[in-house]
Amino acid sequence: MKKIILLAAVALASQSIMAQQTTLREAFKDKFLVGAAISIRDVASKDPKVQAAIKNNFAVLTPENCMKCEEIHPKKDLYDFRDADALVKLAKKNKQAVTGHCLVWHSQCPYWMFKDDLAQPVTREELINRMRDHIHTVVGHFKGKIKGWDVVNEAVMENGTLRNSQYQRTIGDDFIRLAFQFAHEADPNVELYYNDYGMDNPNKRQRVVELIREIKSHGGRIDAVGMQCHLSFDSNLEEYEKSIQAFRAEGVKVMVTELDLSVLPWPQGNYGASVETNFDYQARMNPYTDGLPAEVAQKQTDFFKKFFALLLKYSDDITRVTFWGLCDKDSWKNGWPMAGRTDYPLALDRNYEPKPFVSEIIKLVK
Ligand code: GLA
Repeated sequence: MKKIILLAAVALASQSIMAQQTTLREAFKDKFLVGAAISIRDVASKDPKVQAAIKNNFAVLTPENCMKCEEIHPKKDLYDFRDADALVKLAKKNKQAVTGHCLVWHSQCPYWMFKDDLAQPVTREELINRMRDHIHTVVGHFKGKIKGWDVVNEAVMENGTLRNSQYQRTIGDDFIRLAFQFAHEADPNVELYYNDYGMDNPNKRQRVVELIREIKSHGGRIDAVGMQCHLSFDSNLEEYEKSIQAFRAEGVKVMVTELDLSVLPWPQGNYGASVETNFDYQARMNPYTDGLPAEVAQKQTDFFKKFFALLLKYSDDITRVTFWGLCDKDSWKNGWPMAGRTDYPLALDRNYEPKPFVSEIIKLVK
């Protein structure tokens, strides 16, 4: 009996040592790719700690900003691929995949896209031409080097209607399926994704299901829906599960594309990632400037364990889980929806080390 107890104890201990030593990249490799969005500062960093953190923990990289329209196509006749090329080169060196983010989005898109030389709004035909040129050039540039693209980002509103964006207003609702068509023309082998926040919202879920059907009914390609998953402690995992089931039923894969879990209080509920929403700084909304209290860290661990248990349950349908940022210090959550806060939403701490919850979710794989 004593021997059995001893063997069990040894097995448990070695399992937890293994969990500590195994990285996210390794642990989940037979389930789904685990990735991070990284900034160009991370890419260019000479700090060995930063480079080791990128390489060791993640199997796939997403550019946080450098492939967005305003960065990669700042003027009508100017494409600037330098930063994006550097990221792709780093990923290749690290044997990591790259997902492109993002081709068509109402935000971080330069003014010129929608105006003619006299600063008047362009016509539907002209905006379609510009969108086609942008997509063909960018997707074409990375042909064969990128696994998949967020083709359209955040086109659906909370009530399930399409966002009244410049693309939607000028072209009409079909701008979405046209964008997918152009991306497919530019690289028939690249995967194509629709990406959005608030995918725990039934209205948004239903509209995204309709978008998938519409793209497919025109013979278009769509491989996956990206659920951004900018989470907070009150995010509804049951609704996320329903979305996974709904997208799976449409024959597409699901990705968690921008994962972070804020531990801070929210001024007025969780706004997902509607970047237009901002609040003035209040000290009481920034309670953890001196470090994360153990009980809050534990709450985060428990939440991430529940979330990853859900993802593992559907690992046949989920192909990628990407954290939105390399480490807590870099996260956009420190600046949104209130500037100047100290948040702890990611997998790596401010010193680029995996946080305690990481070994806990790794244990779930076994
Ligand atoms: C959205 C976008 C991302 C990023 C985040 C906030 O989720 O898809 O590119 O801008 O907002 O940083």
